Order: sequence, then C-alpha cells, then structure tokens
Amino acid sequence: MNIKEYKELVNKSLEEYFSEQIQNSKYDKTLWESMSYTTLLGGKRLRAIFCLETCRALCNSYQRAIASACALEMLHAQSLIHDDLPCMDNDDLRRGKPSNHKVFGEAMAVLSGDALISLGAQIIIEKTPSYIEKNAILDTLNLYLKAAGAFGIVAGQCADIEAEKSENKIGHEHLKYIHNFKTAALFKCAILCGATLAGASEYKINMLNEFAQNFGLAFQIYDDILDVISTTDELGKTAGKDEKENKATYVTLFGLKSAKEKFNELILNCHDILKKTEINSEVFLQILNDMCERVS
Ligand code: IPE
Ligand code: IPE
Ligand code: MG
Ligand code: MG
Ligand code: MG
Repeated sequence: MNIKEYKELVNKSLEEYFSEQIQNSKYDKTLWESMSYTTLLGGKRLRAIFCLETCRALCNSYQRAIASACALEMLHAQSLIHDDLPCMDNDDLRRGKPSNHKVFGEAMAVLSGDALISLGAQIIIEKTPSYIEKNAILDTLNLYLKAAGAFGIVAGQCADIEAEKSENKIGHEHLKYIHNFKTAALFKCAILCGATLAGASEYKINMLNEFAQNFGLAFQIYDDILDVISTTDELGKTAGKDEKENKATYVTLFGLKSAKEKFNELILNCHDILKKTEINSEVFLQILNDMCERVS
C-alpha cells in the first residue's frame, strides 16, 4: 500500500462509520455532525498511516490495525478541535475550513472532542479483529489512553498554554517537554499500536519508540517552521499564529535557522534508526522526504 491508498482506506472507514451513526442519531444529531465534521475534513492522516504501515512492515498485514488507525484519527481530530477553541489557541481555520467551534459553537466543540476520545477507545475494543490476542488489544488500548490524557497530549497542551501565558522565555528542556507530550506522544502511540498488533519483539518496539520520539519532535518543529514560512492558504490554518500568540516554539525561541538545523538532525536520527531496525518501508521514507522538501 502507498500513502494515497492508506489515506483512502482510512477515509472510507471513517466515512462509513460516521454516516451510519448520523443516520441512527436522534436528539444528538448535532453531536455526531460536529464529531464527523473535523474528523472527515481530511488532513494528511499521518498517524493512521504510521500505525498501518508499522503493522504491515512487521507482520505483512495492515488489516489488523485499521480500527486503531481510525481511533488515532478520532483522537487527533479531538486534539485539533480543542486546540482551536478560543480558550486555547483561538484559531478560526482548520484544514482549510472554519474550525469546529465556528460551525457548531463552543459547547458542541467541547462535547464532540470529549466524545471522540472515548469513541476511539471503544472502536479499538469493538472493531479490532477477533483473531488478535486479547492481551495485544489491552496493550493497544493502554497506549491509546495514555497518549490521550494526562500522560500524553493533555499534559503537553497544559505546558504549552502555561508557557504562552508566562512572561519569561522557557528553555530548551521545557520546550522539548511540550513537544514531546503534545505531539510526539500521539506518533509514539500510532507506531507502537501498529507494532503491538503485529506482535513485534521488545527490541523492535524499543527501536520504534526511539524512531517515533525523534519523528514526533521533528514533526512539531516542522509545524512551527511552516507556521512562519507558509501562507494560510497553503496550510489550511492561520499562518504566523505562533508569534502572534506568544507561543514557545523552536522558531520563536531559537530562530528559523536553528529550528531547521534541529529538524534536519532529528530526521537524520530517524533514518539511522530505520536502518538499524531493518524496517523496510517506502512509506516511512516518503513521509520523511516530503517533510524535508517542504522545509528546505
Ligand atoms: C497538526 O497536525 C497538529 C500538530 C501536531 C502540529 P497535522 O499537521 O498532522 O494535521 P492534519 O491531520 O494534517 O490536519
Ligand atoms: C499541536 O500544536 C498540538 C495539538 C493539536 C495537540 P499546534 O497548536 O501548533 O497545532 P496547530 O498548528 O494548531 O495545528
Ligand atoms: Mg496549540
Ligand atoms: Mg494550534
Ligand atoms: Mg502549529
């Protein structure tokens, strides 16, 4: 499978699921419409693709990871809906369209985000194929729940918001903490869910964790660089937002040149780890290359 095929597979699964739920809903129709709105708006589907491709590369089957891949995109959509709220980053544009709260209102944006987190967990339990060992499903669920909450995205978003409000500039260590939790946590979850469902060895899981850690940091730095060098049209979200909102990023703290150097260093680490782990994946290489091209 290539990136486009994975993306189509994930979009189709999510579309089918949501259209069924919207049809069956009654007084909660707006909730389902709001949940599906941001989730189906698109996006690169990177977390889902990493989950599916990790599983394929390790056991030659991505099918067993489809439920988890969809769950990850629901959790990711939740993090974006809440990230855009006026009390967070106050962003009116997401994936080229008005942010969730601009269409459905703040109350519905909060509720649909809440519902997406638990729906993802439910889908891992209900839709992972029954031939997968129960322990592997439990481990996958644990990875998901950790990434979603106070051991993952929520911890990172807390540190991000507090750094924004602080009068003093934060240091390198603190910034790494923010990136690690608000962004790398979900990439780690995606890759480790794929590895767990493939029944990977402890060695491979540790190496992939290392890959995801480097990739996750690189990805947030990439996002911070694009915020400065791209237009709102290209991004589908408001460009130049980080400086305006006093966000702590590699670019706002250390400048564009250092941010690019750090990004390149982390991408090189990713390549090294892939070689050592003997993971053969055109999809992984394509993702890394596409990012490098856009930043250079
Ligand atoms: C945006 O993630 C949020 C960050 C962690 C920077 P993506 O850039 O992957 O967003 P979509 O899914 O493609 O819209
Ligand atoms: C992304 O950070 C973190 C999460 C959504 C969890 P940003 O705030 O930089 O993401 P964008 O730029 O709004 O997509
Ligand atoms: Mg944010
Ligand atoms: Mg934001
Ligand atoms: Mg950003």
